[in-house]
Amino acid sequence: MCGIVGYVGNQEAAPILLDGLARLEYRGYDSAGVAVFGNSGLKVAKAKGRLRVLSDQIQEGRAIQGQLGIGHTRWATHGAPSDVNSHPQVSQSGKIAVVHNGIIENYAQLKEFLVGHGVPFTSETDTEVVAQMIEYFYDGDILKAVGRVLHRIEGAYALGIVCSDEPDRLIAVRKDSPLILGLGEDFNFLASDVTAIIKHTRDVIYMEDGELAELTQTGVRCYNNLLESVEKEVFHVDWEIDAAEKGGYEHFMFKEIMEQPEALRRTVFPRIKDGEVIFEDFGLDDDYIRQINKIYIVACGSSYHVGMVGKYNLEQLLRLPVEVALASEFRYMEPIVDERTLVVVISQSGETLDTMAALREAKRLGGKILSIVNVVGSSIARESDVVLYTWAGPEIAVATTKAYSTQLAVVDLLGLYFARRRETMTEERYGQVIQELLLLPSKLEQVLESTQDIQYYASQYFNHDSVFFIGRNMDYALGLEGSLKLKEISYIHSEAYASGELKHGTISLIEDGTLVVALATYDKLFDKAMSNVVEVKSRGADVLALTTKNHAEEMGKTANGMITIPTTDELLLPSLGVVPLQLLSYYIALMRGCDIDKPRNLAKSVTVE
Ligand code: G6P
Repeated sequence: MCGIVGYVGNQEAAPILLDGLARLEYRGYDSAGVAVFGNSGLKVAKAKGRLRVLSDQIQEGRAIQGQLGIGHTRWATHGAPSDVNSHPQVSQSGKIAVVHNGIIENYAQLKEFLVGHGVPFTSETDTEVVAQMIEYFYDGDILKAVGRVLHRIEGAYALGIVCSDEPDRLIAVRKDSPLILGLGEDFNFLASDVTAIIKHTRDVIYMEDGELAELTQTGVRCYNNLLESVEKEVFHVDWEIDAAEKGGYEHFMFKEIMEQPEALRRTVFPRIKDGEVIFEDFGLDDDYIRQINKIYIVACGSSYHVGMVGKYNLEQLLRLPVEVALASEFRYMEPIVDERTLVVVISQSGETLDTMAALREAKRLGGKILSIVNVVGSSIARESDVVLYTWAGPEIAVATTKAYSTQLAVVDLLGLYFARRRETMTEERYGQVIQELLLLPSKLEQVLESTQDIQYYASQYFNHDSVFFIGRNMDYALGLEGSLKLKEISYIHSEAYASGELKHGTISLIEDGTLVVALATYDKLFDKAMSNVVEVKSRGADVLALTTKNHAEEMGKTANGMITIPTTDELLLPSLGVVPLQLLSYYIALMRGCDIDKPRNLAKSVTVE
């Protein structure tokens, strides 16, 4: 939540900061601000609303001159979105400005202490406390003052700090919130993620928890929290700027839906050689794999839904208990984890705070951590014993699409890899699944060719105000994702139900014209799915069914509308089935005039509890 960027160099900072913020807006977008140091001192501009409001206010940055500055795009936690609560927050003298991503948990005590010492406050934010504390401890060296404050603040923070008495230095600090440094010839950056700076440099340093950095035009120095110098590795990011731009599409979400076949090829193909799944430099040896007694999948949001499908697939492939837990629950539920438990942590961003906390808890309990992550070098990736990257490329739209698909593919690869070692699959079945995995991207392309049908159904249903997704087993897990996609971007109330549960309550909500999206892709349970379709239809529901081509004729006799997907191995059906659901949500949101890439109240990277 919240995006931060900082620049020091030989060019005008404000336009560079605004451009960086535009690329970080997916992290939060209820207000934005910049602080730039120039000939006339430290100038701060901030405004409630989208970044455009700020950008207009400062004439695309031309109105604020200076070659060093920090910027922020906010997802409010402490204090409602308003001009005054926007970041940067400044100290009472106006000397120190701070941008912050995270939450300072003990801000109330610190504020009381500062108020007791006569410090006046203007905002309701926890961040202002940091700015005021730094000023309180400042005696001519901003790095030292920040170092002192770090020992007093608790919580999660990525901070960018400037001080008008030392106008050639930017200070960066991180704990439990993402922060990277971007290195250039005559400039340096701090940013919440690589997308903000990729236009300028691909050489980055990933800051660790508790570290500080000092950036000047000519160099970057990193320190631990005792202000001792630390050596950091510089990573080279190898993706192109186009990957983080819309490239002619109206929305990132649509672009990312369309990128799925390619993302799957990147994720899957290098990991299959001569009909075998291979993981290079895999950190789990075969003996350990054979000894695993339980798999725990831990994640949030759509990544959790991947886990729900993963449970069905892994249990089927491995005949091993697989539990799936929401990361926010896992950390407080005293989970049963030991050294033979493999904890699979799934996260696109690699920064979700609840997921990170669950990872640490699982580690503390002795579990081995395997993470499936998209963002290279992210916190979750770094703290895991083993990482399998999804190689989906940057995902910008808040509603995930290609990350979900590639996560699912990696779970399937993992299942196959383990099944081989635990000898739980026949040669024949193994070969079939591998073959279907290799065909998945082209089958997905077929699905993406039939967008007109889905557009048509969207035009029929976009004004409904309540939708139910029903299905059994993997179709239920798929429904959870379909339902989340729809509600998060179109604001239509929707719920996913395991079909068999309808009769225990939900069916009372079905009346004339209620839209029910019936998921009937799972061959083994097709007849059961049909019965449920008949059941809801007889109560007046309008049924839009999703099924495979081989069941189209039968389903067509009963459902009001139907979307079909190609047949494939049953393990891979959700990978195909999710795409029409993504498109349906997309078109419905489009027809409702919603802000698709930035749905209200949401953020892509959730770094608060
Ligand atoms: C947010 C995003 C979701 C995502 C979830 C978990 O809510 O909007 O799309 O599934 O966070 O994020 P992660 O990065 O851990 O997969």
